[in-house]
This record gives sequence, structure tokens and C-alpha cells, in this order.
Amino acid sequence: MDRIHIRGGIPLRGEIEISGAKNAALPLMAASLLSDEPLILKNLPRLADIASMADLLTGLGVEIKLNGDNGNGGRTAELSAKHVTETTAPYDVVRKMRASVLVLGPLLARFGKARVSLPGGCAIGTRPVDLHLQAFEQLGAEIELAEGYIEARAPGGLTGAHVIFPMVTVGGTENLLMAASLAKGETVIGNAAREPEIADLARCLIAMGAEIEGAGTDTLRVQGCDALYGAQHQVLPDRIETGSYAVAAAITGGDIVLRNTRLDLLETATETLVRAGVTVEETSDGIRVAGTGGRLKGVDLMTEPFPGFPTDMQAQFMALMAVADGASMITETIFENRFMHVPELCRMGADINVHGSSAIVRGVERLSGAPVMATDLRASISLILAGLAAEGETIVNRVYHLDRGYERVEDKLAACGADISRQAE
Ligand code: UD1
Repeated sequence: MDRIHIRGGIPLRGEIEISGAKNAALPLMAASLLSDEPLILKNLPRLADIASMADLLTGLGVEIKLNGDNGNGGRTAELSAKHVTETTAPYDVVRKMRASVLVLGPLLARFGKARVSLPGGCAIGTRPVDLHLQAFEQLGAEIELAEGYIEARAPGGLTGAHVIFPMVTVGGTENLLMAASLAKGETVIGNAAREPEIADLARCLIAMGAEIEGAGTDTLRVQGCDALYGAQHQVLPDRIETGSYAVAAAITGGDIVLRNTRLDLLETATETLVRAGVTVEETSDGIRVAGTGGRLKGVDLMTEPFPGFPTDMQAQFMALMAVADGASMITETIFENRFMHVPELCRMGADINVHGSSAIVRGVERLSGAPVMATDLRASISLILAGLAAEGETIVNRVYHLDRGYERVEDKLAACGADISRQAE
């Protein structure tokens, strides 16, 4: 298993190209199942999760042609679901990546049946899929749980309905939106998630012929169609990768231009950076982020569904607050167990106390490098960010989590002057 070695204390300066968004690319790839004509996706990031989704789709009979580079390092893929031979997503793939459950809606809507392994728990909480299943039942599907699998059937097809999610769910909204595109009649999705990745999926579905209104709002109105068609779509920039490198600039007192990205994708996170004393400016094709010569101010934050502060940026901000001047209260409202990075940051000298869903971070002057263990994707990047600011050497173990969601992280940081390298164990 690879490890990442970092020697901290260098202010990072330079430019970083932001990749396509993992969390947009995964549902977009699943959407290829909705049509027997090819879907062409541009700006796909090179990530382990994308490879897992490609494996899953290939196993179902989807033909995937990867067409190399398309400019900024991203890839173009042509996905053709003309000859789908399987409607089961097996345990081995789903276990590795929860987003595999996103094939359920498209398979059910187009083929009237789907069998998907139950995702089970994961490091950041129990993360059930009950809301996805309830929504499909409202569209007329019969759902059974047997031998660790979700077995869904809708022999006569799905029928549109008015579904109000009792809590905001990103994956649930995406799964239902895809299924509703091929259901009979109108589906109204209330309390829909408003994440930019959902608007991106809606744009792609509309290009495939779907009739969707309200993308980006909490009410989506879908008129079901008999069939969807081939289309081309450019995956939107990864706002979490953008935010993570913004924190890299801030935590090292550096100055980084993030290219191929957009400020409007992460307004709450950038507002929080600005409150802490960081300079954030929009450029013609991205964002410039600069730290100060001195220490940043400790500020409070609470994670919320979009447009609130993203839970996927919480761990990175905790690393930043660990070296800020003053205290900061960080409250996690989306996942119940998303403070796994706290003990590791404390091993680097951070002063953090967790009380239920809140953490009090008392900023220290300096962190010190240490061997640490990555427990999940966003925890991994927070330890790298802490390592960039720490005195001495930090070794981040178990970086396979990182490769699920960050493309060439060590190359991108090294290009801005970081002393960082990957070593095989
Ligand atoms: C997606 C993102 C993930 C991000 C999360 C919240 C992808 C591939 N992943 O995950 O990076 O952290 O949104 O922004 O896009 N819940 C239920 N029942 C359900 C579904 C969800 O109780 O059926 C709960 C979850 O346990 C969690 C909350 O709802 O507490 C939000 O989860 P959800 O928005 O569904 O997250 P994901 O789609 O899994």
C-alpha cells in the first residue's frame, strides 16, 4: 500500500488544474444505462472510483470506450448501453463504492428490474439507502431485501408520483431523477438536494431528451419519456477538489491559482475562508486563493446541504482551524461519524475536543509532522493539508482512500513547490 511523505512549512505558489467532479461523473456514468444510444462524457477525472463505476457498468454489458486526453488531463468516455446483459450489481463492487447504488434507478426504469447489493456501513456513518427505496416504491416498484441484496421490480414500468424526501439526500435525488425520466407521466421531487452535481446530471438528462424543470432548486418536475437518446456532456469542475487546494494555499500562507473551476460552486466554503482572513478572487477561468503572512482567525462553521457548507470540506477546514489564531466550533450535521480525522490531527499536535456532533478546535501555533493513518477520503486530504503546514515529516498511510477522489494529488501539490512524494510500501 502506498504512503505519502510530506515535509511541511513551504508556502505553496503556482497553478493547479481542477479535474472534473467525481460526484458528478459517477451519476452521469450511471445515466448511460437509460438509453440504448451512446452517452459521451468529457472531462472525466482519473480516479479509482471512476474505474470502479466503469467496472460495474462493463459487468452489466455497457461498452465503454475511453478516448484519451481531452485537454486539461481529463478523459472522454463513450458509454453505450445498447446490449445490457445483466441487471445485478454485485457485492464486490458495491462494497468498494457506495455510489454503485446509482445504477438501481436507471436499471429499474429501463429494464423493469434491478438487483443491487446493499451498501452496508462505511467509516463515516451507517449511510442507509432507505430513502432511495421508498422513493422507488412510490413510483410503483416492488422492493425486497434478500441475502444482502436489494431486489427491485417494476414489470409494467414505473409510474410518476409526488415524492417528498423527508431529508435531503444527494444520491436519493439523483437515483429518483434518473428513474423518473423514463417513468410514465409526471414525477415531482420535493425537498430535492440542490447540489451542483444534481443540476449537472439534470443538464445531461435534458440533453438526452428528458423533460426536467427546476434543476438547482428543491423542487424538480419531471415529465417521463418513453426513451432517452445519445448525448454529449462535459462534467462540471470538482468543487471539493477546488476547496481542498484553496485550503492548501491558505494553510501554507501561499498563493495558488485554481484553473478550470468556478467560485459559484463553493460560495459558503469561500466565504468561510474569507472570514478566516484568506484572500479569494475570481479569475477568468477559476479562482486565486492567497493566505496571509501571519496566522488566520479561528471561525465557526456548520455543515449543511448545498448551498450550505459542504460536509466534504469539513475535515480540510478542521486542519486549517487547527493552526488558526483562536478557537473554532465545527458542527457536522450530515454524517454521524465524520470526525475520524480528529485523533490523527491530535497526534500532529492539534488541540481538538469532540462533543457529540461538534468539535472545538483551539488553534495551535504549529503542528508537528507524524506518521498518520487515513480513514476515509476527506480525512486523507485533511492529513495531507495538515502535513503541508506542519514542522518536519508527515507520513500518511493507507492512501488508497485518497486515490478514490483526488487525481495526482502529489503532482499537483509538488508543482506548487510542496515537498511531497509517494512511496510504495
Ligand atoms: C453524496 C456524496 C458525498 C457527500 C454527500 C453529502 C456522491 C457520490 N457522494 O453522498 O461525497 O458527502 O452526498 O453531501 O455524490 N440518508 C439516509 N437514507 C438514505 C440516503 C441518505 O438516511 O436513503 C442519510 C445519510 O446517511 C446521510 C444523509 O442522509 O446522513 C445525506 O446523505 P446523502 O446526501 O444521500 O449522501 P450520498 O448521496 O451518499
